[in-house]
Amino acid sequence: MTKIIIDTDPGIDDAMAIFYAAAAPDIELLGLTAIFGNVTVDIATRNALRLIEAAGLECPVARGAETPLELPPFEPSSHVHGREGFGDIPAQVPTGQAIKETAAEYLVRMAREHKGELVLCPIGPLTNIALATQLDPEFAQNVARIVLMGGSYEEGGNITSYAEANIYHDPHAAEVVFASSARIEMVGLDVTHQILCTKEDFSAMANAAPKLGGMLQDMSHFYLHFYETVGKFDGCSLHDPAAVIACTHPHLFTAKEVPITVTCKGEESGATVLAGDARGNTSVYMQVDSEAVKELFMSRISDLP
Ligand code: BDR
Ligand code: CA
Repeated sequence: MTKIIIDTDPGIDDAMAIFYAAAAPDIELLGLTAIFGNVTVDIATRNALRLIEAAGLECPVARGAETPLELPPFEPSSHVHGREGFGDIPAQVPTGQAIKETAAEYLVRMAREHKGELVLCPIGPLTNIALATQLDPEFAQNVARIVLMGGSYEEGGNITSYAEANIYHDPHAAEVVFASSARIEMVGLDVTHQILCTKEDFSAMANAAPKLGGMLQDMSHFYLHFYETVGKFDGCSLHDPAAVIACTHPHLFTAKEVPITVTCKGEESGATVLAGDARGNTSVYMQVDSEAVKELFMSRISDLP
């Protein structure tokens, strides 16, 4: 079993990733940490609690940073994920509450308690991870791997022509993380743009798993509509599920080892590019067996209630 914490801004594909983790027999989901991005941090925390409750999980949720490390706050991506984060599904109040520790405090403690074993899977802006790195100088070494959804090496961006959204929303935090001594795997647009789910795929999952597959199908209408407006994809990208799947199935991907730095200003802000200094390599995922990843995702979601 791989011990995972997901740092998340739920978000439609975040919901897919968290339900995948709930369904995966090879994942022990220790907790969720919430971050701004697709929605505000308050909505992200509420949505994370809702997903945990819907999936019948009992893990803690910690509230994270409200704003980027240095940049002023961004508007949430409501044109992609809806105002409440789950497309057209209205807001619902969860019964549970976030724990008292901040996301960074919780991450630091869990990395110490599960030293060398914890796989951290950030699928939103990297602010909480940067704060944890700054809070504890040993944090980067205590985590076994950081398998993040973000960035783009050769594919170009999705929020600007240079930048992927998660990195764009806090480039300074991403730079702290890529410059740290942690073992980092970057699951970026180079691979996630190859893993697509269609309306028919969501119908199949809803038929097999009416409650949770049905909830994903309800959210997917809004997300698929956004992808239609972009015009170049046949379906929507499984960005965040791809990162969770990479935690346990890295053999389904091919990576290139390169030092990565982040452009923090100007028109190319948020670009993930080759670093010129002596920092360690990042495993940048460049190719994927997209059929195998999609099949794994669909079959495990179909096992849910
Ligand atoms: C990433 O940005 C967010 O909109 C998605 O949830 C995903 O984490 C894709 O660029
Ligand atoms: Ca996300």
